[in-house]
Amino acid sequence: MTKQQRSVCVAILALIALGMVAGVAHAAIGLPPEAAPLIRHFYKVHNTCANVEPFVRHQVKLVYDNDRTVAPKLIKLLYADCMINGCDASILLDGPNTEKESPKTRGLGAFVLIDKIKQVLEARCPGAVSCADILNLATRDAVFFSGGPSYPVFLGRRDGRDSNAAWVDLPSPSISWESSLAYFESKGLDVQDMVTLLGAHTMGRVRCSNILDRLYNFNNTGKSDPSMESLTLRYLRKQCPPKLKLGQPNPLINLNPSNPTHRFINSYYTRVLTNKSVLGVDQQLRYGGDTYDLTDEFASSIEDFKGGFAYSMSRMGGLKVLTGTKGEIRLNCRMVNK
Ligand SMILES: *[C@@H]1O[C@H](CO)[C@@H](O)[C@H](O)[C@H]1NC(C)=O
Ligand SMILES: *[C@@H]1O[C@H](CO)[C@@H](O)[C@H](O)[C@H]1NC(C)=O
Repeated sequence: MTKQQRSVCVAILALIALGMVAGVAHAAIGLPPEAAPLIRHFYKVHNTCANVEPFVRHQVKLVYDNDRTVAPKLIKLLYADCMINGCDASILLDGPNTEKESPKTRGLGAFVLIDKIKQVLEARCPGAVSCADILNLATRDAVFFSGGPSYPVFLGRRDGRDSNAAWVDLPSPSISWESSLAYFESKGLDVQDMVTLLGAHTMGRVRCSNILDRLYNFNNTGKSDPSMESLTLRYLRKQCPPKLKLGQPNPLINLNPSNPTHRFINSYYTRVLTNKSVLGVDQQLRYGGDTYDLTDEFASSIEDFKGGFAYSMSRMGGLKVLTGTKGEIRLNCRMVNK
């Protein structure tokens, strides 16, 4: 595929995902096969909570107005939920040995917002709306408030009853793009989804501990990652000293230093092209053939990035969903029903 054909392809696929192509009413196109039962306006069609979308949006707006990092937090939470054993809200369950308790999911946020939305919905439409759908809707709204695309969320997910820390298989931030792609493919996503969803790193923060290897001991060489541009290296070393004083918290730094206000912009991709990525996995996008071309396209077109992001978020939100009589509608997102 030439670059131009690929752009057109991304745009068309995005339109399909957005339901803008006449006759496409269901989620079947673009979503993994098991997501086919998801539909638009599930709660309206079943007359169980017709106004769920404005209720969720209002709560997300209240939080967004005070915390501009709510979009990256929700995206990470949704990613952790969907990639680990499907979009069944299992990441939200409290308790010993749950997914939430794994060292690999440490630092996830936005749980309180999900609780708040659930509380409001239980008051308005008791026992109707799943935590898994709430997480997908809230993420879409936060992305939109941050300047990202608005896209329809297909609904009808149910909540899982199992969560296990041992299932947490999220890759390390220093992973190579080949291993990262193998991970996405193992979940039913593809290279375009990977390049697009990594673009979520255009917003949000990360702990220094995730990049110390790139700054001081890349691949056990005792040196920095040679692919990092020198001013970026100097800047990041200042933010992330090699050793912390006893009791000093691990610093939080912006994943995209060009975007301190956490807006949905495409400078993440420009930084990949100019060797200024913060995470190793991001910088690797420069070195794959397919990943380079799409990075280049998104760096030059925010509209393509937005369309692609809407499409890949819909695909991720459909991974291994529970529908029909499987699972349950949790009454409290932190615990399974009695
Ligand atoms: C890391 O080191 C190993 C062994 O020395 C080498 O084979 C590999 O290519 C290195 N990886 C990178 C990304 O430099
Ligand atoms: C980025 O790194 C690559 C390979 O290490 C190099 O060829 C390229 O010129 C660098 N680009 C910039 C803008 O520094």
